[in-house]
Amino acid sequence: MEQTEYHNPVLLKETVDGLAIKPDGVYVDVTFGGGGHSREILKRLGPEGKLYAFDQDQDALSNTIDDDRFLLISENFRFIKRFLRFYGVRKVDGILGDFGVSSHQFDVAERGFSTRFEADLDMRMNQRGELSAYHVINGYDELGLRSMFLQYGELRNAPKLARAIVGARENNPIKTSVALKEVLSPFLVKHKEHKILAQIYQAIRIEV
Ligand SMILES: C[S@@+](CC[C@H](N)C(=O)[O-])C[C@H]1O[C@@H](n2cnc3c(N)ncnc32)[C@H](O)[C@@H]1O
Repeated sequence: MEQTEYHNPVLLKETVDGLAIKPDGVYVDVTFGGGGHSREILKRLGPEGKLYAFDQDQDALSNTIDDDRFLLISENFRFIKRFLRFYGVRKVDGILGDFGVSSHQFDVAERGFSTRFEADLDMRMNQRGELSAYHVINGYDELGLRSMFLQYGELRNAPKLARAIVGARENNPIKTSVALKEVLSPFLVKHKEHKILAQIYQAIRIEV
């Protein structure tokens, strides 16, 4: 897949400039995605340089770069220390993180990241992960949902949102984006509904 189709990184050159790449240095790109940043780093590395990259989304593997100086690790970067130790890396010269969701993740309806599509509740960045948006929405108690909406969505009406979800799922689980939107529709104030829905999705995404 073309890198531009998968994700078009903003401020590409400026960000990599900030790393002040040493040609023989060791670097880590903890959010590989479409590999735009990694490719730019590799351009600036000499033959002795090394780049390790992480992405927990299996889809990112299709963007891997065929280069002896490069290794893509299909794992959560929270394990960075363990993996670098495993590959014999004792010190690095720079780490780049481009946090958030890739355009690819937003554009594939069934991943459930976008408010634009009808899809099952999912939002897992790591498709091998056990916790999905479905489990959060249908499994968390009212207090858990409330804290999530408050902390990660900064939604002042978090208690009402949490109560509505808990009430609605008493009869049937809430399975899809459309069903969730319907349950929360009384709180999606006219002219602000996209913003509020985006905050709700952000909260669930961070939790997952
Ligand atoms: C904004 S995109 C990065 C785009 C990338 N810089 C490029 O040039 O295409 C963020 C990527 O980080 C990955 N990601 C987010 N959190 C992660 C984590 N904790 N561990 C590993 N990868 C993660 C996502 O799967 C996504 O592909």
